[in-house]
Formats: sequence, structure tokens, C-alpha cells
Amino acid sequence: MSAGNIESSLPPVIAIDGPSASGKGTVAALVARELGFHYLDSGAIYRAAAHAAHQAGVALEDEAGLVGLARRIELRFDGVEVYLNGVAVGDVIRTEEAGRAASRIAARPALRAALLERQRAFRHLPGLVSDGRDMGSVVFPDATLKVYLTASAEERAKRRYKQLIEKGFDANLSELLQDLMDRDARDAARVAAPLQQLADAALLDTTSLTIAQAVARVLRWYREGMD
Ligand code: DC
Repeated sequence: MSAGNIESSLPPVIAIDGPSASGKGTVAALVARELGFHYLDSGAIYRAAAHAAHQAGVALEDEAGLVGLARRIELRFDGVEVYLNGVAVGDVIRTEEAGRAASRIAARPALRAALLERQRAFRHLPGLVSDGRDMGSVVFPDATLKVYLTASAEERAKRRYKQLIEKGFDANLSELLQDLMDRDARDAARVAAPLQQLADAALLDTTSLTIAQAVARVLRWYREGMD
């Protein structure tokens, strides 16, 4: 676990990385609320960029086109809503298909570089909780606390299934499981900022934890690091 930059003059950051559908977004948002910190859902940036590419007819393999687009788009967060060039896209970017497209463009190093400062710009007082795949390794390597939040693939697929059914969508558990495993493999195998558990990150396996227990654990680690 990192007790990182307590002496630093930069606002504190809690970096929460982990695989798809691990619940890290829910935990990160609740930790941020509890501490009165800002919250960054970095996956939403990749999802919105993939959506912008789709709208603009830029191929997911066209790295230069993606970089140009990433520099041009206007992105704004308001609670769970995400505005892409002024239009609410929160629902469209959170589908399984949008997640797959985000994971594909996220493997492009030049695109990641183009989105780096945009993410760092969320670091404001009194602090930031951010979740993603490379929050602790690349975006905020000096984070005050780094957490690797995961759960078994079966448990993650079940959670995603329940979420989709509750929202009134069709879902197939075995397809979801396969999809999650494919996406994790792509996010972990890429050369640019792969998903990894860092040596200085605290492991939080939520397979048999409630959301409240996971949130309490992160808050305890953070406060212990402050002592
Ligand atoms: O966290 P998420 O499922 O919303 O992220 C969607 C995809 O975006 C994920 O499969 C990989 C990519 N991503 C990334 O490469 N780096 C991040 N910091 C966040 C997301």
C-alpha cells in the first residue's frame, strides 16, 4: 500500500484500479462522497471517446484520427451524467458494446497520451478519487493510496447480469462472463498502461464483500495512511 505523497502540495488522490465490472466505480464514487472529494470515472472518458469516433466515422484502428478527435471533444461530468460536446451520453456509453469499443481504442498509446492531461486536470482540492486501469501506474503514480479492486470473474458477471436485468435489458450470463474475460485479457495484455496489480497497491477482493464493506475498507486504509 502506498502512503505516497502526504507531504506533497498536490491534492490527495485515491487511485482505484481493477478489471471490468469489479464494482470499483460504485466504491470509488461512495468513497469520494464520504470524503467530500471529487470523483473521476476514467473509463467514461475512453467510452465517450469511442462513442465520438463512432459518430464521426473514425475507425477504431485509426490512431491519428482518434488522437485528433480526443483533442477536439468537449467532455463534462455532472454526477453520473456525461456530456459529450454538450449532449448527454451517460446511457449510450455504458452499454457492453461501448465497453468493448472503449477497450479497443484504449490499447492505442497515442490516444492514451492525448487523454492524460484531461484526467490529471480533475485533481483539485480537497482531493480526488479516480477509478480505471492505470490510475496508480500512469495517471497518478504519486497517489496517496492505491487500491487494486477485484472480484472473481463469475461474481463480476453475476453482478453485471443483475444490473442489466434490473435496468430492463436482455442479458445472458455466459455471454457476459465470456465478454468480461475477453475485455480483461485485452486490457491486461496491451503494451500501453496495462491493467496490473502494482506492488504498492492494496488488494481489495470484493467477491464476498458488500459495497458498504468495500467502501469502509478503503476509507480505513486512507485514514490510517493519514495518521
Ligand atoms: O472502467 P470501464 O469498464 O468503464 O472502462 C472501459 C474500457 O476503457 C476498459 O475496458 C479499458 C479502458 N480503460 C482504460 O484503458 N484505462 C482506464 N483508466 C479506464 C478505462
